[in-house]
Amino acid sequence: MQLTITRDMESLQDALGALAVEGKRVALVPTMGALHAGHQALIAQAKEVADAVVVTIFVNPKQFGENEDFSKYPRALEEDIKKAHEAGATVIYAPEASDLYPEGFQTSISAGSLGTILEGAFRPGHFDGVATVVTKLLLRTLPHIALFGEKDYQQLCVIQRVTADLDIGVEIAGVETVREPDGLAMSSRNAYLSATERATAPKLYQALQLCAQSIQSGAAIDPTLAEAIAALTKEGFKVDYLELRSEYTLEAQETYTSPARLLVAASLGTTRLIDNLSLE
Ligand code: PAJ
Repeated sequence: MQLTITRDMESLQDALGALAVEGKRVALVPTMGALHAGHQALIAQAKEVADAVVVTIFVNPKQFGENEDFSKYPRALEEDIKKAHEAGATVIYAPEASDLYPEGFQTSISAGSLGTILEGAFRPGHFDGVATVVTKLLLRTLPHIALFGEKDYQQLCVIQRVTADLDIGVEIAGVETVREPDGLAMSSRNAYLSATERATAPKLYQALQLCAQSIQSGAAIDPTLAEAIAALTKEGFKVDYLELRSEYTLEAQETYTSPARLLVAASLGTTRLIDNLSLE
């Protein structure tokens, strides 16, 4: 199918208008670019549930903290356009910041308490920035469905909450995490890892798998997690958190109650990795 590339709201509206006239079912896949097989899986899944797939490519300054990697975040628009098209995108929306946040812009969506725990405790304001840009992208495109990766599980929960709370009538779907053959969750930030760090990185997912096995076979939660944190620290990780939470609400669990999910964030050198695993 033909690909339409749009760089501003007007051309995006033209492309969406044409799809609406044809009665097409539209799916939205928001990204920050530097696309990899994880993003492509979202686009491919979107293609299965809709006639047209709008992929947005925008490195959103509002979700980066002052000392974070906004300026060095990988940008590769030409490559991204190819990869998105290959995976099934029909419309690309890759705006400049001024198109989404024109002069005078000042409104922000608060992600509430879901946005201040776990990742939010280490990245203050991050989920408000995500909620704000995703709300704008949803309202600009008004798709039938929008797809997000479980790789960023807390982000998925926040977006589900925000769209329900604000009556944004778009179905939000989660897509399973795509991993490298050694188990490392694919991420644009994996490109920052040195060769030695890259060799260590899969231990994060292995730790999640071990914790899941132990907890599901009845081990106490706190000592299991503490042991895993100690083991990861020994391998060179600086662990920000490793916690067991209820699915969807992300409430802390003192005793294991299904459905639950393990969530972890840890740095290797200057690269921060996140991952999670559902305990079914
Ligand atoms: P980004 O990190 O580019 O991710 C875009 C989408 O791809 C998100 O829904 C993310 O969860 C998903 N994704 C990333 N890696 C994945 C993997 N290994 N497997 C499956 N899905 C994966 O997340 C963002 O951008 C931004 O916060 C955004 C939602 C675009 C708002 O700016």
